[in-house]
Amino acid sequence: MAQSKAVNLDEHPGYVDLTRRARENKPPSTATPLGAVAGSRAPGSKTRAAMADELRAEDDLVSASFGTIHFKPVTVAGVELKLEPLQPSIGTVVHGIDLARDLAEPEMVSFLRGLWLERRVIMFRNQNHLTPRQQFEFASHFGEVGVQYGERGHEPNSRSETRGPAVIEGVPEMLVLISDEKVPAAASGWHADATWQKRPPMASVLMCREAPPVGGDTCFCDCYSMWQGLSEATRERVQHLTAIHEGGLVHQMDGKTPVSQHPVARTHPETGKTTLYVQQGFVKRFAPEHGIPEDEERALLAEMKRQEGRLEYTCRFRWEPGSIAMWDNRAVLHSASADFWPHRRRMERLTILDHDVSRRTPYYAPSS
Ligand SMILES: [Fe+2]
Repeated sequence: MAQSKAVNLDEHPGYVDLTRRARENKPPSTATPLGAVAGSRAPGSKTRAAMADELRAEDDLVSASFGTIHFKPVTVAGVELKLEPLQPSIGTVVHGIDLARDLAEPEMVSFLRGLWLERRVIMFRNQNHLTPRQQFEFASHFGEVGVQYGERGHEPNSRSETRGPAVIEGVPEMLVLISDEKVPAAASGWHADATWQKRPPMASVLMCREAPPVGGDTCFCDCYSMWQGLSEATRERVQHLTAIHEGGLVHQMDGKTPVSQHPVARTHPETGKTTLYVQQGFVKRFAPEHGIPEDEERALLAEMKRQEGRLEYTCRFRWEPGSIAMWDNRAVLHSASADFWPHRRRMERLTILDHDVSRRTPYYAPSS
């Protein structure tokens, strides 16, 4: 029987690098998921100690609990909120708010907007009393409410018997997504909404009206960490490339499938941070003018694909009737969990466009 060779851990290259970085007070390597998440949360930290201090301060997220829910209490515009983080870097459920009533104060709107930018996706429960019009009004506090797939005048118009047109009277902007025994459908690939548009929607607000008894959760994946998680060589190679985003059959406009070209590395127009803006629900190739050889293209896309849905970058939200999620399409991907057939699930979605028109088109502007 072959004997396995004895390995001296002190001489192993990975271990040598690990101990050298700790000795030299350097942040953990972004080649590891843990380092990628830390690097995306505290970018520019020069030393390990400074990064650790910054993250410890940010992680002061929880100080009380009810049942199994751990939260931080905060009072905004006289309303007592409980903020429940779903994981360290993304996703916060905001308890204790009535979205039909509590956004009258600008202080509440700016608090929620700041929280949304920081956490990329914020969620609410027990909002089933909101009418579609009130959901529209809620969304309009954060930008211009778009049509069903974002920008007005760029609307898919191919319909089938099994999918649409379900339209809510008075709120034609609302996209109604129904899954049931007859329609076994769920958006279960990682994507950001309508990136095949030239100016994709900034945000989406999704309300659950009917939930399956179990399953059908939506997961969100942080695109800052996805960018950090690529190898340095890959980031260098792809940072000035663009990719082709192609819609599906259901997105056809006048019989044509919509296609747009966007940067692979995207600068978030509000935080200034870089995201990986390749979601392989809609991206299958880089722009042909880059002349990337087929083999290399396949390898690069495969490396990017491995970033989608990594546990460290991801949070998961269980729906109940009246649950709402509002996410930043510039900073997270999302995917439904397609595990609930034959049960019925009814979701109602609005898109939001940035008030600032100059920020609607994705761009890459590296700081150095
Ligand atoms: Fe979606």
